[in-house]
Amino acid sequence: MAVIIDGKKVAAQVKAELKEKIEFLKIKYNKVPGLVTILVGNNPASLSYVNSKVKACREIGINSVFEKFDAAITQDELLSIIKKYNNDENFHGILVQLPLPEHLKEDVVIESINPLKDVDGFHPYNVGNLVIGKDTLYPCTPYGILELLFRYSINPSGKHVVVVGRSNIVGKPIANMLLQKKDGANAVVTICHSAAKDLTIYTKQADILIAAIGKPLFIKEDMVKEGAVVIDVGINRIEDNTTEKGYRIVGDVDFENVVNKASFITPVPGGVGLMTVAMLLKNTITAFEKIESLKN
Ligand code: GUN
Repeated sequence: MAVIIDGKKVAAQVKAELKEKIEFLKIKYNKVPGLVTILVGNNPASLSYVNSKVKACREIGINSVFEKFDAAITQDELLSIIKKYNNDENFHGILVQLPLPEHLKEDVVIESINPLKDVDGFHPYNVGNLVIGKDTLYPCTPYGILELLFRYSINPSGKHVVVVGRSNIVGKPIANMLLQKKDGANAVVTICHSAAKDLTIYTKQADILIAAIGKPLFIKEDMVKEGAVVIDVGINRIEDNTTEKGYRIVGDVDFENVVNKASFITPVPGGVGLMTVAMLLKNTITAFEKIESLKN
């Protein structure tokens, strides 16, 4: 049976380290990092993610403000709110939860965020820096995956990583991060996606398989090589009338089916998802240090 990678434990460790760092920064700069989280509309999954982000910030001493707007907010109104926070010295991170309602242009909204405050790492300036291997603000979920690999002493160097999924939030950035000629990366990377005629041809070759396709329980045992490291990025709600809420959360990997074939595996919940929040906190502190250091 695989080692089950404990995202809850690692996220708690990262948060404890960051809390200590904030104590140090408070003394050095006489202020603390600030993060504004912006949510538009009432998507229940988004609301739940945002609540956990706001709560985690407060736990470690980040000044956290939650701005929630009606789905009918106009593009100009949203842009003017972002502009206000771009110019507010008490805020070092600006996070706009995605997806946005259809009438809002996601790319325009993301590009309006000061890249130095782009703690999601979604601004094209930061994406470009990531691709060419410069230090930058890294998207939180891929960053969390690298941290989990590191903390479990799984070295991707020279390994074949197969990423299933090509989103801008996970698939593309994790592939680019693991490709870099750097410690904790230096992998041979394949990206495959839903247009493949037979995904198994690709997934079977993976030493490290990263599932980020958004299809519940999609990866089965026959798609995984014996001894592979399996990282499940999926967070899918599926109907389950035996639970109080009427649904339960599952990943993109059929955990029970795959656990005996893998060497390491992340569970859902309790795996990558918690790391996303931890790395958001890390990025907020990184942004704070960069912005404050530029003042001197
Ligand atoms: N929607 C799903 N994942 C994310 C994320 O990491 N950041 C933001 N802003 N929106 C998301």
